[in-house]
Amino acid sequence: MSVEGKNRIITTQRLLEMKSKGEKIAMLTAYDFTSARIVDEAGIDIILVGDSAANVMAGHETTLPITLDQMIYHAQSVVRAVKNPMVVVDMPFGTYQGDSKQAVSCAIRIMKESEADALKVEGGQDVIESIRRILSTGIPVMGHLGLTPQSIHKFGTYSVRAREEEEARKLMEDAKSLEEAGCFAIVLEKIPAELGAKVASSVKIPVIGIGAGGGVDGQVLVMHDMLGLNKEFSPRFLRRYHDIRSEMLKAFRSYISDVKSGDFPNEQEQY
Ligand code: KIV
Repeated sequence: MSVEGKNRIITTQRLLEMKSKGEKIAMLTAYDFTSARIVDEAGIDIILVGDSAANVMAGHETTLPITLDQMIYHAQSVVRAVKNPMVVVDMPFGTYQGDSKQAVSCAIRIMKESEADALKVEGGQDVIESIRRILSTGIPVMGHLGLTPQSIHKFGTYSVRAREEEEARKLMEDAKSLEEAGCFAIVLEKIPAELGAKVASSVKIPVIGIGAGGGVDGQVLVMHDMLGLNKEFSPRFLRRYHDIRSEMLKAFRSYISDVKSGDFPNEQEQY
């Protein structure tokens, strides 16, 4: 499908087809032009402009402080870079939890100003009115259940959610509500693998997990975490694919040493 001159290969239709064929969906976060271009070249299906930008880009403790303008700035940088993947943007805290009219105007701002493909919203029945209104404008919405970091002050901890029967039952109901409302996919964060698989087999839309086990339809990780840029963050679900932090340290130290010693720039590196 061609969307305003861009040929995004991954659409909501394609994701449904992937689920029905049992093809796993790979999703990663990106927040800037340069890294989004590399992730696209690698062949990712979905890029999430996550509000985890508040943590990994801006150094906040939680995702709550990031603003709508800041999310739009990150989304614009990513959209400028990518050709093939679907670009999904997180609606930041405070833009949809209260008034569903405000939710629609914030959603429209993100879509108009960034030209992204879809939005992600945390929560189930609590925010279903906002989700329905956003969907009614034609904007695709991805849900997010389980550990929803925008509610961290309610949870009080980043530990595994829905271990107890009552919370697991509620999560299952929320997933059904999101599907019925018309969401095109759901992210499940940090829940038992058995529950993740149960949700994925109970809904027709793709379920993408982060710490939700291997029985779901796809996986998502935060780019900075999987590249090994953060030493401090090491939950059980995180597989580190590189130790970029050490590589960067080595490069920066070599540069500093070359500048101090006068080795840089050499004859070929000047005019
Ligand atoms: O903001 C984010 O990066 C996310 C992922 C953890 C799913 O929501």
